[in-house]
Parts: sequence; structure tokens; C-alpha cells
Amino acid sequence: MKLSVRSVKQVASTIRVYELGLMNGGPALPPYSAGSHLTFDLPNGLRRSYSLCGAPGRAGNYVVAVNRAENSRGGSACWFDTIDSGAVLDAEGPKNDFPLVETAAHTVLFAGGVGITPVWSMVQRLNEIGASWELHYGARTHAHAAFLAELHDLERGSGEGSVSTYFDDAGNGSRPDMRAIIDRAPRDSHFYCCGPQGMLDAFLQATHELPASHVHIERFANEQAAASGGFSVYLAGRGIELAVPEGKSILDTLLDAGIDVPYSCKEGLCASCETAVLEGVPEHRDSVLTPEERASNKVMMLCCSGARGERLVLDI
Ligand code: FES
Repeated sequence: MKLSVRSVKQVASTIRVYELGLMNGGPALPPYSAGSHLTFDLPNGLRRSYSLCGAPGRAGNYVVAVNRAENSRGGSACWFDTIDSGAVLDAEGPKNDFPLVETAAHTVLFAGGVGITPVWSMVQRLNEIGASWELHYGARTHAHAAFLAELHDLERGSGEGSVSTYFDDAGNGSRPDMRAIIDRAPRDSHFYCCGPQGMLDAFLQATHELPASHVHIERFANEQAAASGGFSVYLAGRGIELAVPEGKSILDTLLDAGIDVPYSCKEGLCASCETAVLEGVPEHRDSVLTPEERASNKVMMLCCSGARGERLVLDI
């Protein structure tokens, strides 16, 4: 799709909301469900995915929120520095890897920072269908929290939902007690979390005894630096050996050599570039493999992970 930016609004100290519509007014936008995202080909050549944060089902436009990352790898900086009203962007989707179970007895949502974006869409949907929900939303400061007024408005108008907030500048070192919140939730509740790595780790720890079907997470950033090159890869299926230079990823080395391999986020988040390792030990820097998968050293993400030794043999 070609989407044009209809408006840009600063909604928190580092978060902007971009409203997008089809270019030239085109036919209706494809519908989406809560938790969906769009993937954009940005003007600087990067490919990045962003959650849709409007009310699903009522969309005349798509709305995405972008947080200006302190150490932006180019994605959020591109949005903030070069994309304004009238800009035209190529986008793919909507796709949903973080779907909402609308039949749950109760829904407990945890969001941290810009992780509120898919969660805000979910809360709007839950409110619309009259479902029971509670949101626990943390951010560095009030000024860093997007959609606060809208959330509290929704809470006031809803008989079924509640919003609790946690801010580092609240003076009490406020953090949700996830374990206690999860323990007191009704049976058959579903639990969702979108936020920084530390929050996701705490959430997974607090929910590890629950059925996997009731625990849902979405990662929006890989906080680990990509591995550096300085080793070689042998592509067993092609009989080709390539040197991966310092400062370059395996994925970019392959693409530069004209070898077509699947990829999407280039950040270790989507698993599109997952590849079997036949020999050698990868240095894992992704956010998608489980600890067991990592320890097996049988698969790796080409976009961000490297090698512990001098050579890897890959099933390509
Ligand atoms: S391209 Fe998304 S994990 Fe590698």
C-alpha cells in the first residue's frame, strides 16, 4: 500500500502519533484487529514495524505511534527528522502477531513506555465489546506516557475496565507487583505484556506456571547491540564462503553478495531471517529465540547475531 501521512501529533515527550490514509483517498483501508501492526519501508531504506493504535473496526485511517529512541538505529530518527504531513510511505499489512482473545473471562494488560500502542488498541476494543479488563501502565515519567488522558476517559466511561499507572518520577519507585496482580485475577483470565526487555522478563517469570495459551507478549525493541563481524560464513547449500567484515551483519553481507534470504525487521525481533546452523557457535543477539533454542546453537538470526569462533556453516 502507498499511505500518505495525514497528520503528525506529539503525544508524549518522545512519542509522536502519525495518522495515515490511502494515497488519493483510494478504496477503503484493509480492516485490522487489535494488536495488529504495519510494516513500513522507510525513506532511509530501513524496514520497520509499528503497532496500530486506533480503535479497530472504526478506522477510516491508520494510526501508529513512534517513540524517538535514545540510541535510534535509524528507524525512529527517520520518522522524527524526515516524515511529516503529506509524506508518502510504502507499507505492508496489517498483520497480527499479538491477537486479542475476545472471549476471555477477564483480560490483564501490562504496558511499558511505547509498549502502550498495541495495548491501547486492545483496551478500546475490550471496552467496545463490554469485556472485563485491567491495565497496568508504566513509563519513565508522566511526560513520557502517551494516551493517558484518553485511557482515563475510557476508564471513567466504562463499567468494566480499570487503569493503574506507575511512573519512575512518582516518588515511590512505583512498579506493578505482577505476581500479585496475576494471582488475584479470575480463573481463565488472559495476560498481555508489551514493553521493554526487563518488563517482559518479569512478566514471563510471573506467568511461567500459566498455560501458554493465556500468556501473550509483543516485543517492540531489541535492546542488545548487534554482533560485529570479523568471521566467515560458509553457505553449505551453495558451496560459497563469505567474509563478514567488522561492523557488518551476516544478513547484509549476504544481501550485498546478491544472495536472497528472507528478512524483515533487521533487529532480531521478527524471526524472518532465522537460519539453521550446521557448524560453529553463534553469538546470539536476537530477542525471539527461547533460551533452549539459543543453547542448542542449531538456529540463529542472521540480521543481528554473529559468531563466537572464526567460522559458521549455515544451511543456505
Ligand atoms: S530480520 Fe527480523 S529477526 Fe532478523
